Amino acid sequence: MNAEDRIARLCGAVNEDRLWKRHMDLARFGALESGGVNRQTLSRADIAARKLLIDWARQRGYAVETDAIANLYIRRRGRDNEALPVATGSHIDSQPLGGKFDGIYGVLAGCEVLESLDDAGIETDHPITVVAWTNEEGSRFAPGAMGSMVYAGLRAVDALRSVTDAEGTTLEAALDATLAAMQTDRRLATRPPFKAYIETHIEQGPVLEARGIEIGAVTGIQGTRWFEVEVNGRSAHAGTTPMSRRADAMSAAVDIIADLRRMAADPEDRLRFTIGRVNVVPNTPNTIPEQVRFTIDMRHPEQRVLEDRTRDIVARCTGTSGGCTVSVRELLTQKPCDFPESIVSRVESAAKALPVSCMRMPSGAFHDALFVASTCPTGMIFVPCRDGISHNPTEHAEPAHLAAGARVLAATLVGLAAADAK
Ligand code: GLV
Ligand code: MN
Ligand code: MN
Repeated sequence: MNAEDRIARLCGAVNEDRLWKRHMDLARFGALESGGVNRQTLSRADIAARKLLIDWARQRGYAVETDAIANLYIRRRGRDNEALPVATGSHIDSQPLGGKFDGIYGVLAGCEVLESLDDAGIETDHPITVVAWTNEEGSRFAPGAMGSMVYAGLRAVDALRSVTDAEGTTLEAALDATLAAMQTDRRLATRPPFKAYIETHIEQGPVLEARGIEIGAVTGIQGTRWFEVEVNGRSAHAGTTPMSRRADAMSAAVDIIADLRRMAADPEDRLRFTIGRVNVVPNTPNTIPEQVRFTIDMRHPEQRVLEDRTRDIVARCTGTSGGCTVSVRELLTQKPCDFPESIVSRVESAAKALPVSCMRMPSGAFHDALFVASTCPTGMIFVPCRDGISHNPTEHAEPAHLAAGARVLAATLVGLAAADAK
């Protein structure tokens, strides 16, 4: 059988109904009444989802491994089992009010490719590995993308262990519980290198749907910076303390936020600036707040703009304001990345050969691929989602689009898994 026939046979084996059912099966873990999921990282729901994935992998005889940050690696043998695996995957954790597709689609599309290879009786030269990266979302333990950052050597797991969630649970305790619950074959002490990494994901934006295009060949990912600003004043009685004698952390924070929003205004709408979390102490109606902490999530495709705006943030959030002290610390910094042309054009050609409609596009969201990209040739495949809505329980993707993305992934992975593919 020639290469084209193999790929046609493989794509024919990709099973839209199975892939959809798996999304619905996993959406039970952390299911919300609104239809979405709350499956935050290393929670009971996350552990239950991992166990189901491991059960499926075992039924097919795939190797199942983990590492110190509890990334889950599911590997299908290659003809040369010592050759570097070609990898795919994404994350199975969700936002607190998350949807059924963000992240989990990349993992399930990868599993669908492995099973389709079995069903089509196709051997690949290199093994193929599906990875579920730990804590991409960062909503329980900040920052996000911990699993892929640790994998890429950008963070040390030991430096993250003391991070706590809102309940005071440490990452260390949550990792220990997860690692103990997962029945894997091995815990890897070092990073398993990959020949290449391709991640599928819903677009999480409106472009593909608006243009009626099924596949996005992702050209790169804009840069991200996360900060936490802390404003400290003095708590006092809300009724008796004259306005002139207050060190009101909330008033100061509101002024700072208004200034930051003016600073971030971009007529071209390329700078994305979000204050998504505010913590107030003591958080009661009749006490002047003594402390306000808030997060900033800032994104832009150009590193120079991120650096300029970071200087603005640090200048505005350091020193004193309205009688309060203000400080800022950076939680996450990641430069924009461009995926290699060789990978982008592979994805495009795979789509063209099927055929499904395809366009090149950048990613506004960050993904594990942004971090893995520093270790091996990396790319991404996007499929449309309804109204471009994500990080929301109503997030929806069409079964046919999920299957089309899995077919493009299958063709791309098999191409890369050939011994002579660069
Ligand atoms: C990923 O979840 C992101 O915030 O881009
Ligand atoms: Mn995601
Ligand atoms: Mn997300």
